[in-house]
Amino acid sequence: METVRTISDMKLLRQRLAEPVGFVPTMGFLHEGHLSLIRRARSENRHVIVSIFVNPTQFGPEEDFDSYPRDTERDLTLLKQEKADVVFMPEPEKIYPPGACTWVEVEGLTEMLEGISRPGHFRGVATVVTKLFNIIEPTYAYFGQKDAQQARVIRKMAEDLFMNLEIIVCPTIREPDGLAMSSRNFYLKGKERKAALILYKSLQLAQSLWNRGERHAGKIRGEIVSLIESEPLARIGYVSVADTETLQEIEEEIEYEALLSMAVKVGKPRLLDSIVLSGSA
Ligand code: PAJ
Repeated sequence: METVRTISDMKLLRQRLAEPVGFVPTMGFLHEGHLSLIRRARSENRHVIVSIFVNPTQFGPEEDFDSYPRDTERDLTLLKQEKADVVFMPEPEKIYPPGACTWVEVEGLTEMLEGISRPGHFRGVATVVTKLFNIIEPTYAYFGQKDAQQARVIRKMAEDLFMNLEIIVCPTIREPDGLAMSSRNFYLKGKERKAALILYKSLQLAQSLWNRGERHAGKIRGEIVSLIESEPLARIGYVSVADTETLQEIEEEIEYEALLSMAVKVGKPRLLDSIVLSGSA
């Protein structure tokens, strides 16, 4: 496994790699969720490149950029075990050199859900992912459904900008008790860990309402909000039942399918989870 720190070395190395090249962008502190993307990339490509870059521009001024968990040594051991070929770990000053003033803005899709409480977040994500795609030129790039809005934004960006690659979205990996894996679970202390299960429980509730034939978005949203409110340690950011393509909120009957997504603060971390309600189960 090669560790590459500069953009010029990465571009040079890329020229030697045969297609297809799979790319998994991460901010490190790897867990099974990240590893599932890497395994999928490993199974579908000649070469696998993983980036570790805690991207400053996607964190707001009040967010946890400085304290975001980091453990590069452990990450590198895991990546070796997963047989990644290349780990790209650029310095922030190289990705954003003085004077860089070009940003990628995906309109509409970024103005709801996470975009409301995190202004500028998706501009940072779209910009860094574009820079990484331009440096690495992957054949396939892998993202998690865990960050459903991010996956939708990246797919739309790649389509709108005629990017020469395919975006693959992979299922959410969970702890045995159902909590979606996230680097930020690390912040859950004491009773908060158990309280955090309210997200998974509410997805299960939504799925069972759906299975029983409930199609009214407002009804489903209302039931989920009441369940989460019954957990004293949880504070709702949003609970959304939205169109899977446009992410526009659905107010009445769901016609075909819907993305149920939520942000819930439990102690320090703001946790995200989601499920697609679809089919006639
Ligand atoms: P990060 O939070 O490190 O996540 C990297 C990738 O892992 C993302 O595509 C995310 O959706 C996926 N992922 C995280 N938890 C997962 C889980 N439990 N199951 C499946 N996939 C999971 O997302 C980012 O970094 C950044 O925004 C990035 C895209 C790297 C741009 O900076």
